[in-house]
Amino acid sequence: MNILLLGSGGREHALAWKLAQSVQTDYLFIAPGNAGTATVGTNVAIAATDFDAVKNFTLTNDIGMVVVGPEDPLVQGIYDFFKADDALKAIPVIGPSKTGAQLEGSKDFAKAFMMRHKIPTARYLSVTQANLSEGIDFLRLLSKAETKAPYVLKADGLAAGKGVLIINDLDEAIRELQAMLDGRFGKASETVVIEEFLSGIECSVFVLTDGTSYKILPEAKDYKRIGVGDTGLNTGGMGAVSPVPFADKAFMKKVEERIVIPTIEGLKKENIEYKGFIFVGLIRVDEEPMVIEYNCRMGDPETEVVMPRIRSDLVDLLQGVAHGNLAEKDLQTDPRAVTTVMLVSGGYPGDYAKGKNITGLDKVKNSLIFHAGTAEKDNQIVTNGGRVIAISSYGYTIQEALNQSFANAEIIDFEDKYYRKDIGIEFS
Ligand code: AMP
Ligand code: GLY
Repeated sequence: MNILLLGSGGREHALAWKLAQSVQTDYLFIAPGNAGTATVGTNVAIAATDFDAVKNFTLTNDIGMVVVGPEDPLVQGIYDFFKADDALKAIPVIGPSKTGAQLEGSKDFAKAFMMRHKIPTARYLSVTQANLSEGIDFLRLLSKAETKAPYVLKADGLAAGKGVLIINDLDEAIRELQAMLDGRFGKASETVVIEEFLSGIECSVFVLTDGTSYKILPEAKDYKRIGVGDTGLNTGGMGAVSPVPFADKAFMKKVEERIVIPTIEGLKKENIEYKGFIFVGLIRVDEEPMVIEYNCRMGDPETEVVMPRIRSDLVDLLQGVAHGNLAEKDLQTDPRAVTTVMLVSGGYPGDYAKGKNITGLDKVKNSLIFHAGTAEKDNQIVTNGGRVIAISSYGYTIQEALNQSFANAEIIDFEDKYYRKDIGIEFS
């Protein structure tokens, strides 16, 4: 079978690496891909959101399955686009329908869904200009809580990972609420979700579903802030570890019973088509899992630790998703730990330079290198994004895996390279 994978980051390189290993894969194409995906498949210069170009390529290259990496094409309805087209409707798209993708595309939709299905999450109120005064009252109510916790304001729509504000001061929170409703994040913040602050440790759980049955993939923890000690600005993710030591059997049983099953059942009851990955961002509050967010795709850089821990054939699992017989498939995982450390361009997540030569890639030993933001220029691999390369390593312990990732992080080099030296340290 020929497979088309959409996207261009480290997540897509890790997915492409895994898809390419399947005996069922004939040709693997990645649109648009990066210099790393080009080593395991063929890049095609098509944007992941250019549905007409995707259609044309799919039909002319006998594509048997489309795997969607990022959220944008899903939220824009690529699943429904295929279903509505006579020439495309028999070709499975791995990802939810447009309505299913609203679990990520609209925080208000996700919160209301969790309320309807009694899925544990923070208390909230959705606010627009029409009920601004109610929103201010809700912030005041939260300010009366004994804990004096910060205020959490979330833009309802996609805001390139920047739409969540955590603010300590009540007056500032009220001002920010108004600024968001006035368009700070454009249309994405025409509705704002105000949430109760939850305090605890976070982890990510990944579910693969055919809409009826599901498999829980290895869990992971990512490190979101740019600075050591999880300080400074939010990034797309600076590194990840899997497994997550606190996500033990007892905790994962609660996650499955209280979150995964009600989510799948809820989608089914509401006739929302969902054949793909569900990423559940969780926080552990007093031993109990609560949902911080849903994403309708895999995480990045979590995929760079989750894929290496899957032993089973990914294409076979995805065939189960496409054809509704996922329950018959076997998910084997690797008991070893995998860690990833992300090399980023100096200045990221603010302004940074591109086009810097990357050296040392040929000297790496005992790690998997997943390209995030790279390109090929004059036969040389150069930086082409804020997050540049993820270095994933196996170990019998998290410490052993980290040692390997950090050793190779010193070997690979480019001007103004930066990485966090404390990824996973609390577990090692
Ligand atoms: P989200 O985009 O919803 O995942 O939010 C981004 C980050 O903000 C999360 O990973 C958390 O670290 C933090 N966050 C979001 N919601 C809450 C909350 N209710 N309480 C505490 N932290 C939160
Ligand atoms: N690493 C977080 C995300 O992919 O959303």
